[in-house]
Amino acid sequence: MISLKNPGQIAKMREAGKILREVEDEVREHIRPGVSTAELDILAEKLIRKNGAIPSSLHYEGYPCSICASINDEVVHGIPSERRILKEGDVVSIDCTLLKDGWQADSAFTAGVGQISEEAQKLIRVTEECFWEGVRQCIAGNRLGDVGHAIDAHARKNGFSVIREFTGHGIGREMHEDPSVFNFGDPGRGLRLRRGMTIAVEPMIAMGDWHLSIDDDGWCARTVDHSICAHYEHTIAITEEGLPEILTLPGFSWEAEA
Ligand code: MF3
Ligand code: CO
Ligand code: CO
Repeated sequence: MISLKNPGQIAKMREAGKILREVEDEVREHIRPGVSTAELDILAEKLIRKNGAIPSSLHYEGYPCSICASINDEVVHGIPSERRILKEGDVVSIDCTLLKDGWQADSAFTAGVGQISEEAQKLIRVTEECFWEGVRQCIAGNRLGDVGHAIDAHARKNGFSVIREFTGHGIGREMHEDPSVFNFGDPGRGLRLRRGMTIAVEPMIAMGDWHLSIDDDGWCARTVDHSICAHYEHTIAITEEGLPEILTLPGFSWEAEA
């Protein structure tokens, strides 16, 4: 069931999004060689709680941490650990979800650790571009297939492949709501986007093949061919104007963009 949000509810989600942006920007500043992913997790949890919010991932279906930190061939759900020390040349994706006053915000980004290869820089850039290609299609009246197709087409054009086993999702009072937001699809097909929908758009892109395996910890998903991956996610709302507002990117406006 898809729950539409009224402007007051979207305002609440905007507050959650603003806090999450601050948390993730602070975590990003701590990414450097020698830092463990557990340190980033502890920092995130501290900042989330300082802002009167709750880390949604902690204890979610038994997940043990407040962020996911996925390195190189790890796509999503990498469990932070003191033993996972970031090193020069790594590519790390940080994904965090928080709950503020009963409303969720979910966002992820990928960063290089120290100096990274040209190809890895391109992967990160293209993954972010895929998000923007998708979000540009998030207009009332368009369909989810338009969004997925735009993401997939941009990844392919750059020689990369979209992960097919994980998707974006509706979001609101729950971290995961209907609908699933696939990162591939057919233009003109699928659910029609409406004012008041709130969704997480999150392209996950591999340099090589998209097939995944899950580690023995039951969480960490990595590419079978061990190709490097990137992930970029924001929580968005389709506003009264029928346009996408990026709730986890406060201050962004399409007017300023144009
Ligand atoms: N943030 C993830 C998403 O984008 C979900 C987190 S899974 C958890 O949907 F297990 F870490 F909670
Ligand atoms: Co997420
Ligand atoms: Co998500």
